[in-house]
Amino acid sequence: MSKNRNTPIEIHKSDFKKIGYNLIDIIANFFDAVDDYPVTPGESALQLQKVLGTSNLPEEGKSAEEIISKSLNLLLNHSLFNGHPRFMGYITSSPAPIGVLADMLASAVNQNVGAQILSPMATEIEKQTIQWLAEFIGVSPSYGGILVSGGNMANFTAFLAARTAKAPKSLKEEGLLNSNSRLMVYCSKTTHTWVEKAAILFGHGSKSVRWIPTDSENKMNNELLSIAIKQDIEKGYQPFMVIGTAGDVSTGAVDNLTEIALICKEQNLWFHIDGAYGAPAAIIPELKELFLGIEEADSIALDPHKWLYAPLEAGCTLVKNPKHLIDTFSSNPEYYNFTKDEEGQSLNFYEYGLQNSRGFRALKVWMALQQNGRKGYKKMIGEDIVLSQLLFDLATSHPELEAITQNLSITTFRYVPQQGLPNDKEKRETYLNTLNEKILDKLQQGGEVFLSNAIINEKYCLRGCIVNFRTSQKDIEEIIEIVVREGDKMHRELQTN
Ligand SMILES: Cc1ncc(COP(=O)(O)O)c(C=O)c1O
Repeated sequence: MSKNRNTPIEIHKSDFKKIGYNLIDIIANFFDAVDDYPVTPGESALQLQKVLGTSNLPEEGKSAEEIISKSLNLLLNHSLFNGHPRFMGYITSSPAPIGVLADMLASAVNQNVGAQILSPMATEIEKQTIQWLAEFIGVSPSYGGILVSGGNMANFTAFLAARTAKAPKSLKEEGLLNSNSRLMVYCSKTTHTWVEKAAILFGHGSKSVRWIPTDSENKMNNELLSIAIKQDIEKGYQPFMVIGTAGDVSTGAVDNLTEIALICKEQNLWFHIDGAYGAPAAIIPELKELFLGIEEADSIALDPHKWLYAPLEAGCTLVKNPKHLIDTFSSNPEYYNFTKDEEGQSLNFYEYGLQNSRGFRALKVWMALQQNGRKGYKKMIGEDIVLSQLLFDLATSHPELEAITQNLSITTFRYVPQQGLPNDKEKRETYLNTLNEKILDKLQQGGEVFLSNAIINEKYCLRGCIVNFRTSQKDIEEIIEIVVREGDKMHRELQTN
């Protein structure tokens, strides 16, 4: 606290303690009772705007205590809680409590982890976190990398490194326009939307992405992959990167990574794995075979804010040879005095990714890795998978549910009433799609459980993804009852309309 300057932004030590302790008390009570809250109040944007009010930028300041009290009221009564045991939509985890404390500490020391000189210990902690994440998923600890905001950024970072490594060396100076042939990327049709965004944003155009069909298990059809690459070479295009998915966003399928690695070797292509969701499951001994080939990847995206339960945001890019990151992202303006130390050990993270100034997101990941250890994560991830399998089994045995897929911790299923369905197959499927979409809308508003959706073989499915250390067997059993109850109601409603 400045002793020599009076500013409205400082909070005096005794006030800081009082407000801070109170805040911690409230957060602790919230964590303890999160299952008593609805998963979401399901309010519309308009309702929320009314609650928030429409005042203009305040001219005069207010007390921190009043602002924090108002913020607590707004957030605890008008939020969707992904920390709720019955939240299993999309892929967002319950936040690890130690990560919540870590974020507060990280903000307090406010390290700029762009350069080692600005963040001496934080940079070392991030380096260690990266090494531990590599060990976690079973690849060599010599992979380098960087923490980023999430899966999109982790994949973008790898995409750019791949391009530097494989595109003509003149690319940096001349840009894409002057490269002789079109640079092509290959991935399965289940690959997350980031790849299209990358192709557009980085100047390749969406036609540079070859979406390879999947097999009956939702894995990339690697025979078709080989054919597509060869055909493109014959046409004079330049393939540069293949993306394997380790846990696809809709169904959790893991591609055959060993086969993809082989194809990449034969064709001298960069092998990237999008393991934003699924890579942490490589820690489970029974899944070792499923993840074979991960150690061959030139780069891997994984998201601590998904299955490592880090509070948002935390993604990570791992690269087998980190030199490719430096080749891609490093610049040395004269106003940076960030010289390396004599022992050659220092590292400036601004040279490893897109960001310049960077926060200390490694701390929450590093702390949680220590709190739980390998053993703790094996237990939690393993249990999430068992719960997902239970959801699938209960859906399979329920006469009004159809279980569709189960991989890693993602289960898809749909409500299929026993009576009152159109006889015509096409009309029946159209009706079931409408019915299940409406059921999902209802569930997402209702606050009892939060699922999301997946379209599988043209079937609109309900999808539960468990990256949630609070979900229990009881929650899964109750979810089945809730879905069937709401399904039945919606079916009757649609029939009377
Ligand atoms: C496989 C995969 N890749 C990338 C992403 C994007 O991650 P993020 O939302 O953290 O940017 C997701 C998100 O669910 C994903 O499942």
